[in-house]
Amino acid sequence: MIKIGNVEIKKTACLAPMASVADRAYRLMCKKYGCAYCVSEMVSAKGICYNNNKTAELCTVTDSERPMAIQLFGNEPDFMAEAVRIVLEYKPDIIDINMGCPVPKVVNTGAGSALMRNIPLAVEIAESAVKSAGDVPVTVKIRSGWDSDNINAPEMAKALESAGISAIAVHGRTREQFYGGSADRAVIKAVKEAVNIPVIANGDVIDADSCIDMYNQTNCDLVMIGRGSYGNPFIFRETEARLNNMPYNPPTVEEKMRVMLEHIRLIIELSPKTEELAIHEARKHAAWYMNGYYGSAKYRAKCYQLTSYAEAEFLAEEFVKLQYGRLHNNAM
Ligand SMILES: Cc1cc2nc3c(=O)[nH]c(=O)nc-3n(C[C@H](O)[C@H](O)[C@H](O)COP(=O)(O)O)c2cc1C
Repeated sequence: MIKIGNVEIKKTACLAPMASVADRAYRLMCKKYGCAYCVSEMVSAKGICYNNNKTAELCTVTDSERPMAIQLFGNEPDFMAEAVRIVLEYKPDIIDINMGCPVPKVVNTGAGSALMRNIPLAVEIAESAVKSAGDVPVTVKIRSGWDSDNINAPEMAKALESAGISAIAVHGRTREQFYGGSADRAVIKAVKEAVNIPVIANGDVIDADSCIDMYNQTNCDLVMIGRGSYGNPFIFRETEARLNNMPYNPPTVEEKMRVMLEHIRLIIELSPKTEELAIHEARKHAAWYMNGYYGSAKYRAKCYQLTSYAEAEFLAEEFVKLQYGRLHNNAM
């Protein structure tokens, strides 16, 4: 176990915040398969203050998702303080501030990874969130730096620690890298050496081996997994088993398809939209569950045409047969 503030978290692997991907259905699937802790999709601090009608949808925390953080982004300390006050009504276990998002829409407002170029403002934002959050721990998620000439994650982490945050998550890429190249574990290790609060290490963990490497190479307190969980909530069960020296049986294709259907049902159930519209949200997830198998390119394309749950069921059945060489009707 590790502790962030007074929140206890299993020292296995947690789920990274991912806007438009790691929604409630996704988080619930990951939790079910062993995820230690999860973070909401990022929510605009200013948007919340102006009573953005997506607030409740983005900020609701269900008991099955706990421990869970709500993630806020913004570049104004006052709005951040007010947003924290508002989201506390949703009773998050932790409040996380996004200081790593690279997308121009966020960076151009001075939020996300733009704050890595303005440590004094980052500190002010963190201080005001910490003050407003009271007993609820505040964490910050950063990148290694703005670009390769400005790797300042250790310095930034130290400054944020002095601002009173309870843990820091580091994605080992610069803003300029976006998602290219590979995550730099040496920077995460340097952050760990620079601060006394827990360090959550993130970037390119795709299985139990890379999770263990991340722990060993950075000495981090917790590993955070993003894209490695696409269509693969089992990654959390796998990493937990490996870290505890327990046997692990990877899912069969039948199990994968069963879980894919469970995930699709959850997306439909939790969506305020009709099945026909909600299934659009499910298409990319369905395709991810089919990654890496024989014939998957063709079936992934079929996933992007799904219009109902019944079609997904049919596709899943065909896909299983295909893997066992039992699909004889030219359905390929
Ligand atoms: C589709 C997508 C959405 C993301 N949304 C967020 C977000 O809302 N907040 C955030 O801090 N990071 C966000 N990230 C970054 C991830 O949390 C993570 O730092 C990054 O994907 C690297 O980890 P990975 O290599 O395990 O995927 C997003 C990443 C992806 C791919």
